[in-house]
Amino acid sequence: MPLPRSLSVTSLSGLDDWTEEFDLGDAVLFEIAWEVANKVGGIYTVIQTKARLTSEEWGENYFLVGPYMENSVRTQVELIEPTNPALKRTIDNMNSSGCKLYFGRWLIEGSPYVVLIDVGFTAWSLDRWKSELWENCGIGVPWFDREANDAVLFGFLTAWLLGEYAAQCEEPPHILAHFHEWLAGLGLVLCRQRQLPVATIFTTHATLLGRYLCAGSVDFYNNLHKFNVDKEAGDRQIYHRYCLERAAAHCAHVFTTVSHITAIEAEHLLKRKPDVVTPNGLNVKKFSASHEFQNLHAHSKARIQEFIRGHFYGHLDFNLDKSVFLFIAGRYEFSNKGADVFLEALARLNYLLRVNHSEVTVIAFFIMPARTNNFNIETLKGQAVRKQLWDTAQTVKEKFGKKLYESLLVGQLPDVSKMLDKEDFTMMKRAIFSAQRQCLPPICTHNMLDDSSDPILNCLRRIGLFNSSSDRVKVIFHPEFLSSTSPLLPMDYEEFVRGCHLGVFPSYYEPWGYTPAECTVMGIPSVSTNLSGFGCFMEEHIADPSAYGVYILDRRYRSVDESCSQLTSFLLQFCQQSRRQRIIQRNRTERLSDLLDWRYLGRYYISARHMALAKAFPESYYYEPQDPSSVSGFRYPRPASVPPSPALSRHSSPHHSDDNDDDDERYNEDLEAEKDRLNIRQPHSPQYRDKSGLP
Ligand code: UDP
Ligand code: G6P
Ligand code: GLC
Repeated sequence: MPLPRSLSVTSLSGLDDWTEEFDLGDAVLFEIAWEVANKVGGIYTVIQTKARLTSEEWGENYFLVGPYMENSVRTQVELIEPTNPALKRTIDNMNSSGCKLYFGRWLIEGSPYVVLIDVGFTAWSLDRWKSELWENCGIGVPWFDREANDAVLFGFLTAWLLGEYAAQCEEPPHILAHFHEWLAGLGLVLCRQRQLPVATIFTTHATLLGRYLCAGSVDFYNNLHKFNVDKEAGDRQIYHRYCLERAAAHCAHVFTTVSHITAIEAEHLLKRKPDVVTPNGLNVKKFSASHEFQNLHAHSKARIQEFIRGHFYGHLDFNLDKSVFLFIAGRYEFSNKGADVFLEALARLNYLLRVNHSEVTVIAFFIMPARTNNFNIETLKGQAVRKQLWDTAQTVKEKFGKKLYESLLVGQLPDVSKMLDKEDFTMMKRAIFSAQRQCLPPICTHNMLDDSSDPILNCLRRIGLFNSSSDRVKVIFHPEFLSSTSPLLPMDYEEFVRGCHLGVFPSYYEPWGYTPAECTVMGIPSVSTNLSGFGCFMEEHIADPSAYGVYILDRRYRSVDESCSQLTSFLLQFCQQSRRQRIIQRNRTERLSDLLDWRYLGRYYISARHMALAKAFPESYYYEPQDPSSVSGFRYPRPASVPPSPALSRHSSPHHSDDNDDDDERYNEDLEAEKDRLNIRQPHSPQYRDKSGLP
């Protein structure tokens, strides 16, 4: 693929267009992160989803650099010979000097090249490199911090890679190196200290101190300007990590972070104001039929219902069709991720649904990885019992069908009393007996290693949510990320999200928060907060977020108790919606997808890269910052259609029932037609834009 000489990026047709003419020349981009081909959390999602757009722009001159992790490589990377001659010489030279580097294609959208470094293979250099770090930068890394030791190895190896590459180029090269997060930051510091011909960008996805301080009981946002950062870092034994992070932020030609709220935090805690805010995007899937995502919801929901049937065997005394599935997912940071607020709101919701004699049952899932000793017996048994009941029903059905068929063949109506024999009844009774249960359905699917001190379990014990019959709110804690190969709930995370009704992410500390963004592009409503990058971004771009199924909880100006009450009221309102209202709301949520597409949000990363090239190589590149108003300020208006209410969502068919799926599908189509008629389609359709006077 030839290198695009002139980069011109136009956004999605709807949101404001943005074009930046910039000749990349012979520049080569290295993007360096510990999360390259290494699934850890949200940073992996940034790197993995952004790769397609970046590959389109940089073609053969784009290389991701990450750690070599055998398991991930086996499933995600195709190892090949390096295509770029200078890079091939670089890797060969390093490998013959005691390093182990691999080159390949990462098998994701965009198929970018990856250089993977086995840091453990060069562990023999650790002490020498640590001394060098101490002598040159005054940063001392203690022996017991394994993660920081990895950061040292990774940092020295990436700086070596970039230096060697520069030396191998025949012409003076224009290298751009983009480093993510403190774990990769040392490479940047060393590039500057060694004065390599490299333009550098550092993106922080959170600050170390911010994460630690928020996890304690500190009034973080009101005291940002007051923290004695060195002391706070020292008290938490992360001073060396903090120094690595702060050094990277200060040495970078361009410093970026993922949201405005984290930009303010960085300014106070890292003492540098980010040059560019680079919000996180996603690759939005477009379906040929606009309501296809609704069908996917119904399909995935049926699979979750099947799991629930097993999990609650013997206690299926609630109507699954009137059940609402809520979930929280992400790294297990109990209070930072707002699991504490979610649990409290669930307890209050349980009470309100009970006293109101609601027919709705809420099933709340917690998908947060913790230390476990595999699935517990009771949970596995539940799925086995469900399977046994299913098999029994199939066996009886087959026998029944055969007898019926034989009777029809001889022209007779069957004698129903003889269709099933004693043996069949015995088999069915045995199946029913085995489905009896003395204990309540488990609140956790795994054997927890820290059961007695686990914060979610302890909170469930305190608030008394134990999946008893009288509870209208049931809970399932799945302390492991989801996987389609799981014997218990064989669904990947995306399928699971599609099958749920509402994602609940009441975070206190959340620089961006991919989980609600992912919900949005899948057309699933979510709760986020005005302390999360995503929540603030949506508040800025949407006039009435909750009308679009984007509920933003106030965790900034309210006490914890008030936030819990607000969340309870969101959840209660949500539970009171009819199926039709949920369908309308999902349609609206999905309409926001374009706003979160890398094709729109990628522009901020592009800007940052141009800025860095121009700063580092002023003789070769010129960059004129654009008027920010041309790249921001778009707002989705309040939906032109009235808010979802049963009165306005009546179907024309007199036979319509709220629970009829066929009608719902027709209803989806009718809704689309109605939107066309009223010209209230995508807010950025040309007609819409003409009227609003937007560019
Ligand atoms: N995630 C996942 N499997 C799961 C649950 C979550 O892959 O079972 C992913 C999810 O898709 C999201 C990431 O974990 O991209 C969490 O990112 P977020 O930015 O919300 O939080 P972080 O963990 O980085 O703080
Ligand atoms: C989608 C499907 C419908 C289904 C509905 C269930 O809209 O297209 O066929 O009835 O989901 O919605 P619910 O919110 O009850 O899961
Ligand atoms: C960090 C943040 C998270 C963000 C992710 C990607 O892990 O905690 O909020 O979404 O990085 O930027």
